Amino acid sequence: MSVLSGKNILLGVTGGIAAYKAAFLVREFVKKGANVQVVMTEAAKEFVTPLTLSTLSKNEVYSSFTNEEDDNAQWNNHVALALWADLFVVAPATANTLSKMAHGACDNLLLACYLSAKCPIYFAPAMDLDMYKHPSTVATFKKLHSFGNIKIEAAYGELASGLLGKGRMAEPEAIAEFIENDMLEKLPLKGRKILITAGPTYEAIDPVRFIGNHSSGKMGFSIAKVAANLGAKVTLITGPSSQNIAHSLIDVLRVTSAAEMYDSVHQFFNDCDIAILSAAVADYRPANVSGQKIKKNESEMILKLEKTLDILASLGKIKEKQYLVGFALETENEVENAKSKIEKKNLDLIVLNSLNDKGAGFALDTNKVTLIDTNNKAYPFSVKPKEDVARDILDHILKTL
Ligand code: CTP
Repeated sequence: MSVLSGKNILLGVTGGIAAYKAAFLVREFVKKGANVQVVMTEAAKEFVTPLTLSTLSKNEVYSSFTNEEDDNAQWNNHVALALWADLFVVAPATANTLSKMAHGACDNLLLACYLSAKCPIYFAPAMDLDMYKHPSTVATFKKLHSFGNIKIEAAYGELASGLLGKGRMAEPEAIAEFIENDMLEKLPLKGRKILITAGPTYEAIDPVRFIGNHSSGKMGFSIAKVAANLGAKVTLITGPSSQNIAHSLIDVLRVTSAAEMYDSVHQFFNDCDIAILSAAVADYRPANVSGQKIKKNESEMILKLEKTLDILASLGKIKEKQYLVGFALETENEVENAKSKIEKKNLDLIVLNSLNDKGAGFALDTNKVTLIDTNNKAYPFSVKPKEDVARDILDHILKTL
């Protein structure tokens, strides 16, 4: 999945011959799962029609402050457009528009959006070779750089003038790739290795029966997805779960029992920076597993259980640099019980779930948690989708690290 997937991209198109390539750029962004909104200057319309760009982006294209053809003219709200955007890309960016951006000019909708935008701004210059090298253009680039705007270097090649040199707008695929790489580099969990456990464990009684629980794995899978989208390399060790995930940064390992989960977790723990154990591991397992299916010969049956190894506690004992997060599912004295687990298991953070809370618990798409840190400070959150809960947990970890 591309890092651009689900992102809102405001694409500013200005008036140069490369404007026709904006159509390919829109397609590239859409293919990667982004929502694209185009704003264009009047001059850009000489090179590519708004109809082309609105058809490809599936959104109306804006170029003026109002919709002039309409008697009930409505304001095209540049502030709303700019705040909607996760990133603003000006491509092609002419010398004229770049200079105006550098100097705060605001005589069209695109520039008003630029001045209102709070998101990362990328620009892909397109001009003739001498314009590109001119001290005034070089000063413009420097100024935009000082504002934090990101330049996508022009390419070398044949120019509209017939001359050969540097100044061609980078190709649409190269622009999209540049932005993807830049965003990946800046992700807050980039370079971190996260180990996550999820789902239930099944403890065999005989070849057909087991002791299990209602955990669906949704919470752990959500944490894995959000962590990977924040740039982390994730090892997700899950018990039996119908959940699936395909992400280039996530390795999924499927196990069945608590003992298998214990072994897999220990295999990866040394090398991880953060471990989040959200699995609902069985606390007890049958002391003897029958090799054959148990027949119902007796009127009653007593199953002898023995304790499983506590994976979380075992990590607390050996952890060095790792940030260790446990989950606590409680039904009474929730906060007190959770606090005592932090110390007992040597955790950095505990995520408390209460089965008494509406919207929290197994198999639901929502959860309600309270985070408790080593200072016993509690951070309660409202009921929300599990992916948002995952984001809250990871945001808290990011703030602490
Ligand atoms: N856990 C674990 N290994 C086990 C049991 C639990 O790693 N054998 C982890 C879970 O993944 C969770 C945390 O321990 O992160 C808390 O589990 P919970 O059942 O709430 O608490 P316990 O420590 O088992 O204590 P109790 O059952 O007495 O409440």
